[in-house]
Amino acid sequence: MSVLFGPRKTSTYKGTSPEAIRHHYDFLGDFYQLTLGPERVYSLAMWEPGDTLESAQLRKLDHHARAANAVGAERVLDVGCGWGSLMRRLVETHDVKHVVGITMSPGNAAWIREQNWPHCETRVENWYDHKPDAPYDAIIAIEAIEHFAGNTVWRSKRVARYREFFRSSHAWLRAGGRMSVQTNAWNTHGWFAAMVMPTNGENGQNGRSGRRPGLKDLSDGIKNIREGLHASRKVFPECFVPTLGELTQASRGLFRVMDVRNDRADGIATLESWVERAEANRARGAELIGAEAVDDIIREERAALKFMREGRSTSLRMVFEKI
Ligand SMILES: C[S@@+](CC[C@H](N)C(=O)[O-])C[C@H]1O[C@@H](n2cnc3c(N)ncnc32)[C@H](O)[C@@H]1O
Repeated sequence: MSVLFGPRKTSTYKGTSPEAIRHHYDFLGDFYQLTLGPERVYSLAMWEPGDTLESAQLRKLDHHARAANAVGAERVLDVGCGWGSLMRRLVETHDVKHVVGITMSPGNAAWIREQNWPHCETRVENWYDHKPDAPYDAIIAIEAIEHFAGNTVWRSKRVARYREFFRSSHAWLRAGGRMSVQTNAWNTHGWFAAMVMPTNGENGQNGRSGRRPGLKDLSDGIKNIREGLHASRKVFPECFVPTLGELTQASRGLFRVMDVRNDRADGIATLESWVERAEANRARGAELIGAEAVDDIIREERAALKFMREGRSTSLRMVFEKI
């Protein structure tokens, strides 16, 4: 079996630890699965008028299939495959011949394997250690990159860690292949300004209002940081949300950026739906993971919704083409 060797690694940091992943996806995951709908898609959906969460999720999966030029492809890699919704959709609807899905969650992988979906290969593996058997025609990574830089507050460190991922993806793709990425993102000015500066609530890219912060803004900023720390301790340990600038910089010289969508409205609609479903499943959730853990999840989802509504964060969908 031939193995494509990846590029030389310049650091040994491998993103969110296996323990933190298991906490989020395998322990808290029992509750998330109650709220995500039958496809178990765990990322922001793509909405149009009249949609349900389910139809908006399928639209999002189809968007990525087309954006990555994966329709009819021989081999596609799904980095951070969650509970496998995209893998199944690629094979059943988009005529992909073989999909490799990698996840760090043993619970994700066990569930996918139980489904026995044809042409879907699941590996419990960090992308950092991934060695493909042959090049991929397309790569899709939906809301996994939030795990790749850990929780360092230093921009240069985060960019270097994202760049490792772009280097590896570049090595795994065939010439001219595309990668479609979706991520939660801070607005243009980065995490600190996004949390503490007043916003006009209208534009996820230019969240600053332009006015000088007052006392109310200061107390709001402190509350936002408190919510961010709570999420980081209890729900999303060792995660960090990037900016558009960080990802663009990290991919430079390796990929051409073909498309950027700022889909904040999709983020708001999905989070509203998740909060509603989480509230409706409180009692069952408490039996599965305990009332305190359910409270932590709902608090985090409400904070994420507030940040999106205020234009502090957004949902980015980016298409990269291998140079
Ligand atoms: C928020 S979930 C998104 C799942 C899926 N893409 C979806 O949209 O439903 C993030 C996924 O990324 C995976 N992940 C996180 N860090 C990873 C890494 N370093 N290598 C591979 N997968 C990783 C997690 O195990 C999880 O499956």
